[in-house]
Amino acid sequence: MSFTIVEPAHARLNRSELAVPGSRPELFEKAAKGSADVIFLDLEDAVAPGDKVQARKNVIEAINDIDWGTKTLSVRINGLDTPYMYRDVIDVIEQTGDRLDLFMIPKVGTTSDVYAVDMLTTQCEDAKGRTKRIGFELIIETALGMSNVEAIAHASKRNESLHFGVADYAASTKARTTVIGGPNPLYGVLTDIDGDKPRDYHWGDMWHFAVSRMVVAARAAGLRPIDGPFGDFKDGDGFRAQANRAAALGCEGKWAIHPSQIDLANEVNSPSEKEVSQAKRILEAMEQAQKDGQGAVSLDGRLIDIASIKQAEVMVKKAAQIAAAK
Ligand code: COA
Ligand code: MG
Repeated sequence: MSFTIVEPAHARLNRSELAVPGSRPELFEKAAKGSADVIFLDLEDAVAPGDKVQARKNVIEAINDIDWGTKTLSVRINGLDTPYMYRDVIDVIEQTGDRLDLFMIPKVGTTSDVYAVDMLTTQCEDAKGRTKRIGFELIIETALGMSNVEAIAHASKRNESLHFGVADYAASTKARTTVIGGPNPLYGVLTDIDGDKPRDYHWGDMWHFAVSRMVVAARAAGLRPIDGPFGDFKDGDGFRAQANRAAALGCEGKWAIHPSQIDLANEVNSPSEKEVSQAKRILEAMEQAQKDGQGAVSLDGRLIDIASIKQAEVMVKKAAQIAAAK
């Protein structure tokens, strides 16, 4: 282990994160009663420019009046290049109590973007006498943001999570796709010519590099990596495949842009009973191994060692977090 200890951010369940446009207040109660771990009320791209002021009012009212239960509640503020962002921060903090947990900052490009919102948030909190600090969720969705992702992850003590914003990222990198998330038929490999045999075409995952890079940057800073949206909300199998491949790389949650995606995201990002009981067996076996003075032993014909303890502990801890939230 390095002498540098990575301190984990404030621990929260973040298996599913529901996007709710601030301009559609009729959805707020439904979101609060649903099963998403985190809800973000959106002031940014789901709200048309003409609706920005009203959406902000709706969101402030909703933070104050709706019973959000034990859910984590976030507001996606507008980008730093817009004329809306400063007032999003000021009005939301000044006109609400302590209920809000997080700000989601879109299109973060440099550490200075995070610094600027941190400074403004801090002033507003201090002026209000708010003692509960608002945490930050940062969307990595531009070429600039991805090229600075490691530094951005460390830019503020408020940082809790990094999110991969696939659609804006595609636009920013000029990737040849117009869908929101999912595979791209252009991104694949054709098997070699082998006489007259038919050749196979294998689809690849064009987002692999971006998601992996963000996961590493997030984990190295103790933050949660979260995969962003999958636009085709009628395609549950497609959503599940995308969520599984993000989870396989280390993401611990995925956005839901429609209620039908929430339970899928929760399911994919919860360890199964079998995984949890296997993790507990690993912990028991390693406890015994350590008593016997051994660093590595076999369990069911497979090697387990000290690294296995950490993997198993992550699984057992997550299961305990989920049980506590029920
Ligand atoms: N939060 C809470 N409830 C929602 C919801 C959301 N984001 N999206 C839909 N619902 C509700 C609908 O009100 C409807 O409820 P009802 O059965 O009581 O009438 C039910 O879920 C089914 O909705 P449906 O009719 O299939 O969807 P829609 O046509 O009303 O809306 C979208 C579809 C995609 C426009 C809508 O889901 C949406 O705005 N999602 C968020 C998009 C977003 O924020 N994008 C920015 C981040 S990428
Ligand atoms: Mg975006």
